[in-house]
Amino acid sequence: MTDTETATAPAVPTDRTAAPKPSSIKMTARDVNVFYGQTHAIKDVSIDVDLENVTAFIGPSGCGKSTFLRTLNRMNDTIAIAKVTGDITLDGEDVYAPEMDVVQLRARVGMVFQKPNPFPKSIFENVAYGPRIHGLAASKQALEQIVEQSLKRAGLWEEVKDRLSDSGTALSGGQQQRLCIARAIAVDPEVILMDEPCSALDPIATAKIEELIHALRGKYAIVIVTHNMQQAARVSQKTAFFHLGNLVEYGETSEIFTNPHEERTKDYITGRYG
Ligand SMILES: Nc1ncnc2c1ncn2[C@@H]1O[C@H](COP(=O)(O)OP(=O)(O)OP(=O)(O)O)[C@@H](O)[C@H]1O
Ligand SMILES: [Mg+2]
Repeated sequence: MTDTETATAPAVPTDRTAAPKPSSIKMTARDVNVFYGQTHAIKDVSIDVDLENVTAFIGPSGCGKSTFLRTLNRMNDTIAIAKVTGDITLDGEDVYAPEMDVVQLRARVGMVFQKPNPFPKSIFENVAYGPRIHGLAASKQALEQIVEQSLKRAGLWEEVKDRLSDSGTALSGGQQQRLCIARAIAVDPEVILMDEPCSALDPIATAKIEELIHALRGKYAIVIVTHNMQQAARVSQKTAFFHLGNLVEYGETSEIFTNPHEERTKDYITGRYG
């Protein structure tokens, strides 16, 4: 537990993000199972990820949130003992089809990790790298424009525009995390997966990331894993509660937090375990 976590049920979200919008389905998972050797980490999980609504994954440590998140862009491929079964689609396309270009997939379904991980390169290069290798910029000017726009969208431009050649690792933790978000945005993704993106940040940096999630909502499908119940209530419109590898309950965030159908969900959000 970090000190941002809480053992009490969060207030009902009342801000502008509370109401889910009618949304198109961006990704689907059907009967997904994940095994690490003998460990059955994800059990028959089926879920739809919306484009216009932010989805929060919550649940106690070890319940499989990160594992399931990684199935969505095949990051589990990088773990030798991980085996994934079931179906996952992105705009109806089979993510696990043999002909799927995984590098391309991870650009379309970007990921932001718990610990900010900028490359040991300049701020500019951190953002320019992806567009360059994916051939998204026809000229130097076009590349500069992508970098500027991505940094603006990530809410970092004003803080770094005069020091683009400084190392990305020289930024503060919160700035580094926004740089990583800019890096994900720069390749024009369709989905952004965030695995506890604020757990290493102070409340001010956290608020900035949450603002950013509001601003990006609808432009990208966003899934965020969080241990912070208030954060889930503030940033998401849909919440999925995982427990011991099962998806116990999935629904509107306001419903999950005020009127959960499952006893296990109620116990978790009221802090009876976690
Ligand atoms: N690389 C791995 N190799 C073997 N087992 C793993 C690996 N990653 C996760 N596991 C196991 O899979 C299960 C789910 O882990 P996962 O990291 O997905 O949980 P989590 O919900 O993200 O937890 P936390 O909230 O602590 O981040 C756990 O039993 C964990 O030990
Ligand atoms: Mg995790």
